[in-house]
Amino acid sequence: MTDLPHLTHVTHPLVQHKLTIMRDKRTSTAVFRQLLREISQLLAYEVTRELPTTTKRIDTPMEPMDAPTLKGRKLALISILRAGNGLLDGMTELIPSARIGFVGMYRDEETLQPVQYYFKVPEHMDERLVIAVDPMLATGNSSVAAIDLLKKAGAKDIRFLCLLASPEGIATMKAAHPDVPIVTAAVDRGLDERGYIVPGLGDAGDRMFGTK
Ligand code: URA
Repeated sequence: MTDLPHLTHVTHPLVQHKLTIMRDKRTSTAVFRQLLREISQLLAYEVTRELPTTTKRIDTPMEPMDAPTLKGRKLALISILRAGNGLLDGMTELIPSARIGFVGMYRDEETLQPVQYYFKVPEHMDERLVIAVDPMLATGNSSVAAIDLLKKAGAKDIRFLCLLASPEGIATMKAAHPDVPIVTAAVDRGLDERGYIVPGLGDAGDRMFGTK
């Protein structure tokens, strides 16, 4: 794994192998969805690496011990709709007590600017680690807008988790939200004229939901 100040690129061989299958246009919706679930757990492992812990007193069958346990409020997973939902299932399996929120954004295909249509997040955002999830960090416009809304709702400690990122999206996020670390499985070459990541994997929402 390469650690950059603002970016964590998860180069684990399992992540890269699964991602290659997801990129392949012949991969079925069912397999795409399953792999997204599996990768989301591996990425969740990375993004939660520095969660604070404390200890609690327990009794093992052998003797008492002070054992590590997570500290503070339950973390908040925020899905940027609709493709973010594909990352939620795997992550909530790994972190079952996480609180869940949704930011509804769609991209105006003419202007490539985000349009908000839904916003619902847990209480006490200021006291939680907030992980915003969206498989594709493309232009960065909707991610920046979503993070703006999360900050307005009080969030102070935010991370952004995606599957693929473009250099443009990373730069846009860094300029707008330098305090928000990004975790991604790959940084691709760039964007095409429609704002799609290349080589990418196509439209993540369409591929996971079987729409066109
Ligand atoms: N959204 C997607 O689903 N794919 C892209 O390549 C860019 C944005």
